[in-house]
Amino acid sequence: MNSIRQGLNHMFGRTAKSVGFAALLAAGLLAAPMASTADAADAHAMPQPPRQSWSFGGPFGTYDRAQLQRGFKVYRNVCAACHSMKLVAFRNLSDPGGPEFSEAQVKALAAEYQIKDGPNDAGDMFERPGRPADRFPAPFANDNEARSANNGALPPDFSVLAKARTYSRGFPWFLIDAAIQYQEHGVDYIVALLNGYKDEAPHGVTVLPGQYYNEYMPGHIISMAPPLSADVVEYEDGAPQTVEQYSKDVAAFMMWAAEPKLEDRKRTGAKVMLFLLVLTFLLYLTKRHLWDRVYREV
Ligand code: HEC
Repeated sequence: MNSIRQGLNHMFGRTAKSVGFAALLAAGLLAAPMASTADAADAHAMPQPPRQSWSFGGPFGTYDRAQLQRGFKVYRNVCAACHSMKLVAFRNLSDPGGPEFSEAQVKALAAEYQIKDGPNDAGDMFERPGRPADRFPAPFANDNEARSANNGALPPDFSVLAKARTYSRGFPWFLIDAAIQYQEHGVDYIVALLNGYKDEAPHGVTVLPGQYYNEYMPGHIISMAPPLSADVVEYEDGAPQTVEQYSKDVAAFMMWAAEPKLEDRKRTGAKVMLFLLVLTFLLYLTKRHLWDRVYREV
């Protein structure tokens, strides 16, 4: 046993330990000021989107059905004029873990759209009322048409946009965010963007016709006119009809579109953590039992 102990001492001896620790400390001390100066420069150029509170945040979060239904209404009445959502089908709106419209509501909704189908027996394309299995029809036939209608800028597809957009919180936040499970950067950015229009650009910034100044858009110049204003969408559940509320609701809806299985994922995560805790405890007992005799001998 002594030889094992000596071996261990040799491997993880005092000197090796302290050298390793000193190296880690030095690396940390060097990295911290470098990261914080970079952060300061970023923060100067780009304000950080304020953090919102979301029902789907944290390890046990779930979507707020009423919010998703309102968000869908905002998307449908306002944003869908320019933004497609090609990966989402009407029937998804009644899936568990989403806005959970009833199947009858989804059927009626789909039937309000005309979907291009075909070719028929004569070889022609034709239009027919939508069915729940159809994807959301895009507002433009192709990207070129979308650009030419929007001053040359392409309105991005909404299917995964809430996960595709993010912003950097810098050191040490990216570490803390992982620990506190902050995963709502995308929706926070979208809310900030929709509320971030400024009538006056700062001195020295040129905003061309068809462009707008937005505090949170990277580069500050955006080719989307402010899409929301108070009372543009009528809410039936009494929620405030303000830009702030609309933007939160539509961002939550976009989050669901991008991550329809979020609730499943979080539920599974919680079960896995519980399982790992129990397993850790059992392994600890096993280890104690197995090594008991060895400890008594040395
Ligand atoms: C009149 C057309 C139009 C409408 C309506 C519209 N958008 Fe846009 N949107 C655009 C265009 C064009 C761009 C691309 C802007 C650019 O690249 O400068 C864009 C870009 C965006 C972006 C991406 C910004 C980025 O980080 O690149 C988001 C998010 C967005 N829109 C959200 C919305 C939401 C939410 C609504 C509905 C409330 C909406 N838009 C309504 C035209 C529109």
